[in-house]
Amino acid sequence: MGKLNGKIAVITGGTSGIGLATAKAFKSEGATVITNARHAERRDEALQQHGDLFDHVGIADVGKVDELDRFFKEVGDKYGKINTLFVNAGFGQPAPIEAATEAHFDSQFDVNVKGLYFSIQKALPYFEGGGSIILNTSIANQLGMAGFSVYAATKAAVRSFARTLSAELVGRGIRVNAVSPGPIETPFFNKTGMTPEQIEQAAGQILQNVPIGRFGKPEEVASYVVFLASDDSSFMLGTEVEIDGGMATL
Ligand SMILES: NC(=O)c1ccc[n+]([C@@H]2O[C@H](COP(=O)([O-])OP(=O)(O)OC[C@H]3O[C@@H](n4cnc5c(N)ncnc54)[C@H](OP(=O)(O)O)[C@@H]3O)[C@@H](O)[C@H]2O)c1
Repeated sequence: MGKLNGKIAVITGGTSGIGLATAKAFKSEGATVITNARHAERRDEALQQHGDLFDHVGIADVGKVDELDRFFKEVGDKYGKINTLFVNAGFGQPAPIEAATEAHFDSQFDVNVKGLYFSIQKALPYFEGGGSIILNTSIANQLGMAGFSVYAATKAAVRSFARTLSAELVGRGIRVNAVSPGPIETPFFNKTGMTPEQIEQAAGQILQNVPIGRFGKPEEVASYVVFLASDDSSFMLGTEVEIDGGMATL
């Protein structure tokens, strides 16, 4: 018997990296798995590559609240309820403060903070009788990583939401927790705008600060998301679980 049998699970950004690994883990635990893609081409690509994994792939750019509204209404109409939401879609781009533009700032806050917040708001009408919401923050929320000030600030906001929204939603039987990954092997770094040489250099620097001596695998985050989604974590709320090879603590 799967830990998520009969559960309707929505993952934002489930087509890649940590979201995709979580979709596979949710599916193997018996959940119905739903995700979004930011446009039709990306959705078709996801269905082509992982058609047997997703029960539904909707279209929503999470930075656009009207698209989130439409996506969650579509899910609500089709499935009637949501039991688990993994709010995962996000990205990061480096820039020193002297070079950062308004667009650099707004785009990261739009997706990582506004997108996350309104994903939760738009999903809430379908959480009847409780459930579990898991947020994807980052250990960047507590480190002074030069060049990542905006990204780190977005993730600090997510850390805050795990606590405040827990307090707001506990009365409805909804538990809100966060996973806080360290460096994980996903396409994340290819989307930072850095060149392959810059990525290699940055990865080498990051590795020096990971006590366990390697990047994590997306599956190593996904197993904690399953734990937080399931009744195994029934006494946990408002927490942030670090999955980082010791980077933030040792
Ligand atoms: N990898 C790491 O080292 C690491 C560490 C700490 C935290 N995280 C966090 O983990 C989460 C997942 O990242 P990942 O590493 O798995 O990277 P990823 O493979 O790039 O996955 C990110 C997912 O979010 C989606 N997404 C981004 N912007 C979106 C938008 N505006 N609308 C809809 N979907 C959007 C992406 O869609 P596309 O495929 O279309 O881009 C993709 O499916 C992020 O929140 C990231 O900040 C990652």
